[in-house]
Amino acid sequence: MTPTKKKNAPPSWRHYNFTTAGPVDDYLYSMLPKRDSVLAEMEEYASQHDIPIVGPAVASVLQQLALMVNARTVFELGSAIGYSTIWWAQAVGENGRVIYTDGDSRNAERARGYFARAGVAKQITLCIGDALEVLSEQKQEFDIIFNDVDKDDYPRVLRLVAPRLRKGGLFITDNVLWSGRVAEKNPKESSTKAILEFNRKLYDSKEFYTTILPIRDGLAVALKK
Ligand SMILES: C[S@@+](CC[C@H](N)C(=O)[O-])C[C@H]1O[C@@H](n2cnc3c(N)ncnc32)[C@H](O)[C@@H]1O
Repeated sequence: MTPTKKKNAPPSWRHYNFTTAGPVDDYLYSMLPKRDSVLAEMEEYASQHDIPIVGPAVASVLQQLALMVNARTVFELGSAIGYSTIWWAQAVGENGRVIYTDGDSRNAERARGYFARAGVAKQITLCIGDALEVLSEQKQEFDIIFNDVDKDDYPRVLRLVAPRLRKGGLFITDNVLWSGRVAEKNPKESSTKAILEFNRKLYDSKEFYTTILPIRDGLAVALKK
C-alpha cells in the first residue's frame, strides 16, 4: 500500500527549499560563460565597493529576454556603474538604444568610462537625476523597461510603466523577493511593504502577465498584454 502524505505537507511539485539552496546556486554560477574583461572588472569593482549590481546570472536572463522579444529600446531605472546597462546594450545591437538613469553623477562618470571601453557608448543615453521623473517625460513606447531603483519607489514605478511600454514588451523588476523578507509574517521595513504592494498589484494587473523568477533575489518578468 502506498503511504499517504501528511495533510499539511507541501505538494511534491513545489521542490520546497530546493531551488535557492547555496550549493545549487554555486552550480548555477559555475555554468555561466566567462565574461569579457570589462564586465569582469565591473563585477570585481562592485564586489570591492559594495555596489549592488544584478550580477551575471540575472544579467544573462535580462539579455536572453531582450533577444527573445527582439528589443531595440530599453529604459533602465537605476543603473549605478552601468553593469546591467552594458548587457542591455549588447542585446539591442548597434542600432538599438538604452537609456541609463542614476541619481549619482559619480556612478554615471564611472559608467561612461566602462561604456567606451566596452564599445557600446553609441547605443547608450546617460540621464543623471530621478529615474522616475526621466521616465515620466518619455513620449515613446519602449520594448523593455527595467526597474532597479530604491525599493520604496516600486509602487510609484508601476503606475508609470504601462503607457510607456509597447504591447508585447516586458516590464522587468529586480529584488522582488528581497532576501526572503517578502515572506515575513509582520514586515516592518517600508521597503518590504513597498515590494509586497508592488508584487500584489503587478500580479493583479489586467495589463500584465507576470511571473517572479526565483533567481538570486527574485526577478519579476511582466509581459504587457
Ligand atoms: C541596485 S543599483 C542598480 C544596479 C544596476 N541596475 C546593475 O545591476 O548594474 C540601484 C541604483 O539606483 C540608483 N537610484 C535609486 N533610486 C533612484 C532614483 N529614484 N532615480 C535615479 N537613480 C536611483 C542608485 O543611485 C543606485 O546606483
